[in-house]
Amino acid sequence: MARILVTGGTGYIGSHTVVELMEQGYDVTIVDNLSNSSVDVLDGIAAIVNRKPKFANIDCSNFVDLDNVFRQFPDIVGVIHFAASKAVNESVEKPLLYYRNNLGSLCTLLEVMKLHNVSNLVFSSSCTVYGQPDEAHLPVDETAPIQKALSPYGNTKQINEEIINDEAHADKNLKATILRYFNPIGAHPSALIGELPNGVPQNLLPYITQTAAGIRPILKVFGNDYNTPDGSCIRDYIYVVDLAKAHVKAIDHMLHAKDRGQVEVFNLGTGTGLSVLTLIKEFEAATGIKLPYTIVGRREGDIEQVWAEPRKANEVLGWKADTPIQDVLASAWKWEKHIRNIK
Ligand code: UFG
Repeated sequence: MARILVTGGTGYIGSHTVVELMEQGYDVTIVDNLSNSSVDVLDGIAAIVNRKPKFANIDCSNFVDLDNVFRQFPDIVGVIHFAASKAVNESVEKPLLYYRNNLGSLCTLLEVMKLHNVSNLVFSSSCTVYGQPDEAHLPVDETAPIQKALSPYGNTKQINEEIINDEAHADKNLKATILRYFNPIGAHPSALIGELPNGVPQNLLPYITQTAAGIRPILKVFGNDYNTPDGSCIRDYIYVVDLAKAHVKAIDHMLHAKDRGQVEVFNLGTGTGLSVLTLIKEFEAATGIKLPYTIVGRREGDIEQVWAEPRKANEVLGWKADTPIQDVLASAWKWEKHIRNIK
């Protein structure tokens, strides 16, 4: 069976994708420097799929180390590149770290792939590239204009997309699939893998589950004076397992579709926008927990509302994010209880 190299494969989206790849029969080699994840994730993956993925603790921006991995696994047919620094606030404070990590690792990866004649790349991008789409572009599809990034992190996603396009222009053998994620949430239904945020969570759902677990006293809702039905911001929350499955479809499509383009871009979302206040209500309904929250001022840099038009991925990849939101929220709560030993 074909082997897929997954960079950042012990991270949140990476680990869920490794599970889905292995369940579909792919062999997997993970490279990860464990800068924002734990080696124990490998045990979680093995407990779900009954075999361990291969693992190399390396930084994928190190040419020699990455080259060694490709030498060791000559059966690699494709790469899914998750490895990246991803904290928006930190990127504002340490832009050089973000440019070096996120741009350098992709350049090194493309060089090493070429050296080993591996021509299939799936790249983790983000709906952040669209900024705030105007009303005519909501829901946002892949043809919507790219807007100036609001953070160095967002800029690295945009520049990485350009790097891929430029390299594909220069090297006609390279095939790439750029996946623009909306807001991934939830955990594997087994609660054996999930999201492990470092310190105080920046993202909404880990903050909600930590508040429900009593680790945070109260959830702060950033603004209720936006131009939305209830005044809070709207996002397209996509179940991480549905998102992971899209990567398997993307790899299948790259390896087998006869008519694919050289670089293809897909939005990965549900097609439905939910407000922060709606998500809180859905969480309460899914778990039976009353969540303490308070409305505070807007968070700088927040986009008012964005949700996906996922039709292209639905039609071309034969994939749909269709897990009901309450199941998704229940999975996040099950995971939080698991890691906190709550009954
Ligand atoms: N929010 C709160 N309280 C919190 C945390 C978040 O009200 O404690 C709100 C935010 O204001 C926003 C919504 O919840 O309206 C979602 O916020 P997240 O931080 O979970 O997600 P974002 O959409 O802001 O950011 C995500 C990723 C980024 C990425 C961005 C755009 O975390 O990496 O989408 O793709 F850049």
